[in-house]
Amino acid sequence: MDPDTHEELERIAEEIRQCTRCPLHRTRTNAVPGEGGFAKGIMFIGEAPGRNEDLQGKPFVGKAGQLLNELLDSIGLSRDDVYITNIVKCRPPNNRDPAPEEVKACSPFLERQIQVLGPRIIVTLGRHAWKWVCEHFGVPHESISKAHGNIYRTNTLFYGVITVMPMYHPAAAIYNRELLPVLTQDFLRLKEFLKK
Ligand code: URA
Repeated sequence: MDPDTHEELERIAEEIRQCTRCPLHRTRTNAVPGEGGFAKGIMFIGEAPGRNEDLQGKPFVGKAGQLLNELLDSIGLSRDDVYITNIVKCRPPNNRDPAPEEVKACSPFLERQIQVLGPRIIVTLGRHAWKWVCEHFGVPHESISKAHGNIYRTNTLFYGVITVMPMYHPAAAIYNRELLPVLTQDFLRLKEFLKK
């Protein structure tokens, strides 16, 4: 990542750590702005920090994160190659779904992160991140069960061309083991895309 991009991301991260735009700031231990070396220009977007992420201030460091690391490793990638963040940067109590007002309050941070990074591809993890991307970039929304593993490309005025691959959330594959081969296959599709 070039120094200017890094500096701008750090500026956004500091704003996130200071943010009081929604009630989640009252119950957080740490905000979780996002992290990763981004060497291959891939951006992963999850839903919201869980307990471990809240404690450490880092995204995907719990069980789902461990599986994400393994999936990355299975296609020869590491966290240095990607940038990982979430739609909502503070943990919703008891890991409930983020409320629409919380998503709305937090969205400008993710919008700026996308703008600064200009990712070659965005991989959404789970249905919430997929829905967010569809709504923000005007991608026709299909259910995650239909859309996962496919590439969607859309031309936007503000961000230029956005390329997205929706995937199931790694946590879903932990609870439902049938989804693990599906997720593994989708990572292979990502590997194919990166060869182009
Ligand atoms: N689940 C998410 O969606 N994000 C995290 O950072 C951790 C678990």
